[in-house]
Amino acid sequence: MTTHKLLLLPGDGIGVETMEEVKAIVSFMNEEGLASFETEEGLVGGSAYDAHGKAISEEHMKLATESDAVLFGAVGGPKWDGVPYEVRPEAGLLRLRKDLALFANLRPAICYPALAAASSLKHEVVEGLDILIVRELTGGVYFGEPKEITDLGNGQKRGVDTQVYETYEIERIGRVAFELARTRGNKVTSMEKRNVMKSGVLWNEVMTRVGREEYSDVKLDHMLADSGGMQLVRWPKQFDVIVTDNLFGDLLSDIAAMLTGSLGMLPSASLGAPDERSGKRKAMYEPVHGSAPDIAGQGIANPIAMIASLAMCLRYSFGMVELADRLEKAISDTLNDGLRTKDIMSEGAREVGTREMGAAILAKFRG
Ligand code: NAD
Ligand code: IPM
Ligand code: MN
Repeated sequence: MTTHKLLLLPGDGIGVETMEEVKAIVSFMNEEGLASFETEEGLVGGSAYDAHGKAISEEHMKLATESDAVLFGAVGGPKWDGVPYEVRPEAGLLRLRKDLALFANLRPAICYPALAAASSLKHEVVEGLDILIVRELTGGVYFGEPKEITDLGNGQKRGVDTQVYETYEIERIGRVAFELARTRGNKVTSMEKRNVMKSGVLWNEVMTRVGREEYSDVKLDHMLADSGGMQLVRWPKQFDVIVTDNLFGDLLSDIAAMLTGSLGMLPSASLGAPDERSGKRKAMYEPVHGSAPDIAGQGIANPIAMIASLAMCLRYSFGMVELADRLEKAISDTLNDGLRTKDIMSEGAREVGTREMGAAILAKFRG
């Protein structure tokens, strides 16, 4: 059996609590001989800043580069509000994405049947929902230059962020979206703001060409991103795969999270391009949610987004499809049994904490 190197980066706040549940599942797979993982743990975010003044150290960046996959918890929190911008906790996450060239972020929003009542939307709007947001992750306004605050000398300052996209960046994220659509509902909706932004005009043009030349079998629609946000809450089941830029993808995926009942439910996979020789791709798996400072340390965070991120890791990095299916079914079965963390609690269900939810999922996974 091949041994895979996993780097665990719990980070801050609830990232630490939810990663504990993932560790238990990884240990179980090792002990049972279901898989062979060699795990290391590193620091990222505020905890890394506290330890060595940087949001991720060179040593831990090296570990990330050398690992077969990274599991990431969450970073940030009010404790680090005052730290310099360059070393704020979030900078560690952005560096990992950029340096590992993880340009494709897959954010599936699935409404588990048992949770249709937990959404703030009507049951019929979300029941059976299964959409995938493909977010571009290493370009756009997150990384465009210039990015600065300049002093204008007259008591005024100017803050600048720059939205930049080049053809190849749009082509490659488009291909990821089209390929995935072929495995699902065969439909891609591309979202930008071509009515205002030059990068949106280019995005639309490139997506249209790639669709026509390489994926004429896949249905392609275009939507302005603001209207897309509205459509996501009006009738989300009209979508199959949504492909969009870094910033719109960030906003739209938080909206999509609420369709599933809670931000604590949404996993994600951040993938690089396959290596030309080995075919292997760099990858990091990260819940969509953050460190949730408002509930951190209380043992009540929902570990499902983190555990479902492990399932995505098994599926996308290691081709362990059966184990991934089994883990996702364990999540679903646990919800069917009526167990709920506070964020997804509804009448008649049993409220549990992070540990108990993680243990129940592991018990189902164990079979
Ligand atoms: P957040 O996602 O941390 O929390 C938003 C709300 O959702 C909070 O009320 C929180 O309690 C709830 N929530 C989130 N995850 C939950 C879970 N697993 N279980 C139960 N409830 C959950 O977003 P925020 O409050 O805007 O940001 C807090 C910090 O996290 C900031 O520093 C932000 O930059 C950072 N952040 C980090 C990541 C990441 O590391 N990937 C993602 C988003 C935000
Ligand atoms: C996310 C987060 C990050 C982002 C932050 C923490 C840098 O909100 O993963 O959705 O904006 O990409
Ligand atoms: Mn976000």
